[in-house]
Amino acid sequence: MTVLVTGGAGYIGSHIVAVLAKSGIRCVVLDNFVNSDPSVLERLARITGAPVEHVRADLRERSVVVDTLRRFGVTDVIHMAGLKAVGESVGHPIEYYGCNIQGTISLLEAMQEVGVHRLVFSSSATVYGDPRYLPLDESHPTSATNPYGRSKLHIEEMLHDVARSSESWHIVCLRYFNPVGAHPSALIGEDPAGIPNNLMPFVAQVAAGLRPELQVFGNDYPTADGTGVRDFIHVMDLAEGHQAALQALPNRPGWEAVNLGTGVGYSVLDMVKAFEQASGVAIPYRVVARRSGDIAACYADPALARQRFGWHARRGLEDMCHSTWAWQKMRRSMV
Ligand code: NAD
Ligand code: WQD
Repeated sequence: MTVLVTGGAGYIGSHIVAVLAKSGIRCVVLDNFVNSDPSVLERLARITGAPVEHVRADLRERSVVVDTLRRFGVTDVIHMAGLKAVGESVGHPIEYYGCNIQGTISLLEAMQEVGVHRLVFSSSATVYGDPRYLPLDESHPTSATNPYGRSKLHIEEMLHDVARSSESWHIVCLRYFNPVGAHPSALIGEDPAGIPNNLMPFVAQVAAGLRPELQVFGNDYPTADGTGVRDFIHVMDLAEGHQAALQALPNRPGWEAVNLGTGVGYSVLDMVKAFEQASGVAIPYRVVARRSGDIAACYADPALARQRFGWHARRGLEDMCHSTWAWQKMRRSMV
């Protein structure tokens, strides 16, 4: 098996490459580094013990994708490349649809031309919109409230049509909940440019003294402590979920969407407490108004992933916080 990982230099992609390479699966990364740094590949090589085969290109350069699929004898694709900031997508919808949707079409055209038909797509729990019931199973109705989420939904639907068009396609859309944590080596992890949008990188930067305090967006939600509840999943579990999905794919023709979550929801304040314990550092925080577009609670029913791939998340909150903190300290020592 040779796997093309589009967006493989990114946060989740780099962990997937680390996990697959450890199992002896050959990976080829295609990335334009719009939201990552080429040095990730050097650090990945230290983890895997061999140089990471890679192509620097935009996914929309279809001829390069065709050439990459042929040159490396790619058998399977994990498609992670895309833009992912919800707020930014509202101000830059054309850029988001261009990158995410045109990028996917370019990839599909290339795969069709070369005859590669097995695809794992990075989708998101954002496609469930505001939950009508919890936990969220895969038959929960889908909707989107911003261009980022809509791009994921459009891609899922497009992939469904592609799988209906010919029996040769094997496509799985993995709907991630909230990925956090880092590789145990602390050599790779989430490395957002500018002010982090997401909770855990922000908490880590407060702990490191890079930001004075965390703003907690609302404590008047109908949850146990009033703060938002999410299904935080360790990025290593998420990466192992991709490996399990890849292994199951040859026996699963057609299209399917599968949640990757833990099934457990933790609140913002649970995460702050857990991080304080893991790091030994107090996290100053202040409750401010709700963030526009946020939902109260969101967590997965993870049963289908276990049934289809024999996978379930194994790592807990402590490991999520410990590894985030170790990576945060390592990252600071690198700059
Ligand atoms: P990331 O930004 O760290 O990684 C994405 C990678 O894709 C980056 O290295 C970027 O340089 C690359 N890329 C972007 N556009 C490209 C293009 N046109 N051509 C080539 N490379 C391109 O993001 P991540 O957190 O690792 O997320 C990976 C995927 O998972 C994304 O598709 C994202 O939407 C999805 N996802 C992420 C989360 C999350 O919370 N992190 C949750 C659900 C789904
Ligand atoms: C989690 C909780 C915030 C920051 C987003 C995307 C989603 C998916 C994952 C890609 C919420 C609270 C946060 C802060 C806070 N990405 N919070 N202070 O919003 O669940 O999901 O990332 O698909 O599409 O929307 O994650 O980490 O931003 O927020 O209080 O500084 O933390 O209000 O309750 P979210 P998050």
